[in-house]
Amino acid sequence: MGAMERSSGGTTDLRSGVTGRDELAELYAVTARRWVRAGFVSTLDGRVGGPDGLSGSIGSPADKVVFDTVRALADVVVVASGTLRVEGYTRLATAPGWLDHRERAGRPPHPPLVAVTASGDLPERLLQERPGTGDLVVAVARRTDPRRVAGLRDRLGDEAVLVCGTDEVEPEVLLEQLAERGWRHVLLEGGPSLLAQWVDAEVVDELCLTLRPLLVGGGGPSLLTGAPERVRQARLLSVLSLDDDLMMRYRLR
Ligand SMILES: NC(=O)c1ccc[n+]([C@@H]2O[C@H](COP(=O)([O-])OP(=O)(O)OC[C@H]3O[C@@H](n4cnc5c(N)ncnc54)[C@H](OP(=O)(O)O)[C@@H]3O)[C@@H](O)[C@H]2O)c1
Repeated sequence: MGAMERSSGGTTDLRSGVTGRDELAELYAVTARRWVRAGFVSTLDGRVGGPDGLSGSIGSPADKVVFDTVRALADVVVVASGTLRVEGYTRLATAPGWLDHRERAGRPPHPPLVAVTASGDLPERLLQERPGTGDLVVAVARRTDPRRVAGLRDRLGDEAVLVCGTDEVEPEVLLEQLAERGWRHVLLEGGPSLLAQWVDAEVVDELCLTLRPLLVGGGGPSLLTGAPERVRQARLLSVLSLDDDLMMRYRLR
């Protein structure tokens, strides 16, 4: 990573050369006891995927730096099943270079992944245990097919299946159950329909948004796909720039 520009509180631009993990950890540090952060990448026209429907095709090396940073600083990562399927998720592995930081922070090497699903239908590659990765927890609803829930309990253990609502996984119920496990710094990685629900429920404290200088068009999902129409004000906490990308932290509540 080369030099980046940083603005503090959205007011002052400094050329501070944020090049190391310690500086990134400081810039993205969370001091609140509980915090929900969402991490997304978007094109200039608000698309969260390229023509292939994948976020990787609109990503960049600079976005990956922030992606790895916020993952490394999380107690737990939450992802909805649509994204898990499309993006081919497996259990999570911390990016090389961040393991020491996690150890110093008293965190396990790899963050646990919480899969959010009402159908209970998760891809096999996600369910498979893999050495050098974090645990998998599944959040379902009471309406989830009991046979699927029983299958998940058999496969992953009772402790790994959370029932967090009647028809859907309700954000507040899920977050409370995660906090009971000591997972208070939560990263929501996707997808946009889950982000829309969480923003609507006003549980997201911070949005880390990478803005890529791309125009994609088409009819794919945007950042808040499906959210009720309402103007919500965000406050800029910091912005990094590298090449033509902007990596912003916004406070949402
Ligand atoms: N640019 C980015 O940063 C970024 C990040 C992530 C994803 N993406 C892109 O976003 C797209 C996928 O997003 P999406 O909005 O279509 O899907 P999504 O939000 O990832 O997943 C939707 C699915 O998750 C489950 N789900 C969502 N909310 C739930 C709730 N409250 N309770 C229970 N289950 C719930 C349901 O699946 P079940 O059928 O299992 O019930 C639902 O069909 C992909 O193209 C992906 O590449 C982009």
